[in-house]
Amino acid sequence: MSETILKSAEAASAPERVDLLAKFDPIIQTREALLAAGVEDPFSLVMDEVLSPTQAICNGRDTILLGTYNYMGMTFDPDVIAAGQAAMQDFGAGTTGSRVLNGTFRDHRDVETALREFYAMDHAMVFSTGYQANLGIISTLAGKGDYIILDIDSHASIWDGCAMGSAEVVPFKHNDVEALEKRLKRVPEGAGKLVVLEGVYSMMGDVAPLKEMVRVCKENGATVLVDEAHSMGFIGEHGRGVAEEQGVLDDVDFIIGTFSKSVGTVGGFCVSNHPKFEVLRLVCRPYVFTAALPPAVMASSATSIRKLMHGGNKRAHLWENSRTLHGGLKALGFQLGTDTPQSAIIAVIMPDLEKGAMMWEALLKEGLYVNLARPPATPAGMTLLRCSLCAEHTAEQVQTILGMFERAGKAIGII
Ligand SMILES: Cc1ncc(COP(=O)(O)O)c(C=O)c1O
Repeated sequence: MSETILKSAEAASAPERVDLLAKFDPIIQTREALLAAGVEDPFSLVMDEVLSPTQAICNGRDTILLGTYNYMGMTFDPDVIAAGQAAMQDFGAGTTGSRVLNGTFRDHRDVETALREFYAMDHAMVFSTGYQANLGIISTLAGKGDYIILDIDSHASIWDGCAMGSAEVVPFKHNDVEALEKRLKRVPEGAGKLVVLEGVYSMMGDVAPLKEMVRVCKENGATVLVDEAHSMGFIGEHGRGVAEEQGVLDDVDFIIGTFSKSVGTVGGFCVSNHPKFEVLRLVCRPYVFTAALPPAVMASSATSIRKLMHGGNKRAHLWENSRTLHGGLKALGFQLGTDTPQSAIIAVIMPDLEKGAMMWEALLKEGLYVNLARPPATPAGMTLLRCSLCAEHTAEQVQTILGMFERAGKAIGII
């Protein structure tokens, strides 16, 4: 037999290849149907130019930004930019290595010092993202035979941290103190218990009843971790988050946070007073087996964190913005995620994905960018238009935004 005949005989007998992406066909179809209806793609917006923390040219249009996590408007702070520029000049563009090898530069140490100062805590560890901080800390703290008890509406990075580890994972009903207590009491005696909570839940913008939850955790011998991604910098007298605001910071064992929101850069962290904390640098795989962040990012972050310590006026203005937008949207007849403004996130509930996408596009054409959020990110299968305010939004901008919502809402038939 010639070689050619052999090859074609082999091909004929080979089993048919299973298309590994076929499981995503329903998503492809939903997206195609949405685009076929003529809606601008909500998931491929391009920022052609960023003019300030609150304004950009998006898809060619002058746009007010109401869907970034730039809560404290630090991205264009001149000191934050200058610190990054100087560090890039002096230390180069990247680290090309892990924190535990060649990737710890002066500014990695400095940003950890800034975090210890910010939280008044003994230890701080910086990760490449907040996602990796949750992945690493949760999977490392809770091991085989331990129990992780977490809010059912936890962020994907928390769930992924649970999936990466080998502990038993027990969810409880969102923000339900009694449900948490019941789960805690069912954990077998002698097992380690890690309770994972968030300060602000990022989809609906609601706050956790940390005071009661932390008390229940302590009464039941649990270790408590709180993710303050959406509250750091803004909530609490010193911007330390919901645990500070509710007076339980000293009883929280680990705080997780991110630089990608109020700090205005990128990176994640964990702070703690646990005396054995430093061992985590050696055993936490998402810390060890990835490259450290560039020195410019670290220098910008350290400067931003130190400025946030003195951000009381900005915090007050952001609360004002949040209250005005929440009250205004409610008065216009929109259904919101919370009855009262609880954070800088205001979720506007849409009847369905189609109406949500139409409303999102109508707002974009008005010159306003908000996040279109849908399952699996959202709870209870909801479609949301998520508005996140910035301390740099002016009172006039907030009024302009309300006018845009009114016109778009009436045009789409939502109000
Ligand atoms: C609650 C929460 N934790 C963690 C993260 C991850 O943060 P990062 O963007 O730094 O990966 C997010 C991001 O949105 C978040 O909402």
